Amino acid sequence: MLNNRFGVNEKGNLTIGGVDTVELANAYGTPLYVFDENDIRNNCREFKGAFEKHYNSNAQVYYASKAFSCKEMYRLVNSEGLGVDVVSGGELYTALSVGFPADKIGFHGNNKTKDELIFALKSNVGHIIVDNFTELELLNGLAKELSKKPDILLRIKPGIDCHTHEYIKTATIDCKFGFALENGEAEEALKAACQAENLNLVGIHCHIGSQIFEKQPFIDAPEIMVSLAKRVQQKFGKTLTEINFGGGFGIKYTKNDTPVAKDEMIMELCAAVKTACKKYEFPLPKLSIEPGRSIVGDATLTLYTIGNIKTIENVRTYVSVDGGMTDNPRYALYGAEYEAVVANKANKPRDFVATIAGRCCESGDLIQEHTKIQTPKAGDILAVLSTGAYNYSMASNYNRVPRPAAVMVNNGKSREIIKRETYEDIISKDI
Ligand SMILES: Cc1ncc(COP(=O)(O)O)c(C=O)c1O
Repeated sequence: MLNNRFGVNEKGNLTIGGVDTVELANAYGTPLYVFDENDIRNNCREFKGAFEKHYNSNAQVYYASKAFSCKEMYRLVNSEGLGVDVVSGGELYTALSVGFPADKIGFHGNNKTKDELIFALKSNVGHIIVDNFTELELLNGLAKELSKKPDILLRIKPGIDCHTHEYIKTATIDCKFGFALENGEAEEALKAACQAENLNLVGIHCHIGSQIFEKQPFIDAPEIMVSLAKRVQQKFGKTLTEINFGGGFGIKYTKNDTPVAKDEMIMELCAAVKTACKKYEFPLPKLSIEPGRSIVGDATLTLYTIGNIKTIENVRTYVSVDGGMTDNPRYALYGAEYEAVVANKANKPRDFVATIAGRCCESGDLIQEHTKIQTPKAGDILAVLSTGAYNYSMASNYNRVPRPAAVMVNNGKSREIIKRETYEDIISKDI
């Protein structure tokens, strides 16, 4: 199996966190997202523990809640002592609705609306990560109107290229997020932020990309960011106290994926920050990161019921399931790879080559092509592994398909954390 949270029981059924996935499908219906609570908690603890070990207490892990956002997830992350990164009024609203401490929320976004900025200011979020000049000016004005002086970080594109999909690279000049270093934009923005009367510039932020397996970008980024902080000190007389290195730590979707252990990645990051601070004679800043996928992505799965199986001689076999791009658009978006298992035949060999198709009226509605699963038949339960990140949060109602339910499993027990949408929910906003 992909990782040790998945197993096979005496009935030959796939298990997650010790719970039989076929029983979950029977109890809650399909499609169904299943999250292993212990695994999510362990991921939070591993990141926190790594900073305690390799840095000092002046560090903060913010869960990037865009990866998977719902009330229970904010409660869980809060109970583990993490902060959260939100990128919309909706994520902020959900976090606050369960009493998430506002001072541990960072507000992101490349085109925050005026209403969202007012919401963030009135909620006294811990900091706002400013993306562009328009936002800088708008926020300064709004802060004045509301008699606030929010802490801000500026989002910098450090010019680091990493080996991941074009759509999830975020640190090169040709990217819609943040201020570029190469053309002087970043320094200009930092100068303006220092001068903005109603804003309190505390730091800088970068996010290199997502699903990164190399250590080097996290070793290179501190040198670039600390040297920028030093220039800000020298040129504008301001000592920045926080550097946030974003998220992007890769996870195992298939056997070919080789993620770096969290402890090792954080060790390298901390060492590089310390080295750069020494080199530039800059005080050790508060160090923060924003992992999303690596908190919630692995040890989760989606269960589907297999329906129509269509073999096209000398072409391929389509195995259709009762979900698809509406609950997992990642293959359609950027060819994301997954492993799939027929959950009620998990002890059988995976020797059947299938293209797993969704139920939507769209030829591109595929979850995986030419992938190996156990020989399927209609009525079998198919599990697609490691679907915790950017699946539910990217789900849609295309074809008016209701969004699936989500359950959390823990020590052999399960509980619903998001209810399945109904047809009534689908028409509830229609007039
Ligand atoms: C600013 C920022 N921080 C953190 C993340 C989380 O990235 P990941 O889920 O790869 O850890 C993202 C993802 O897009 C992001 O844009």
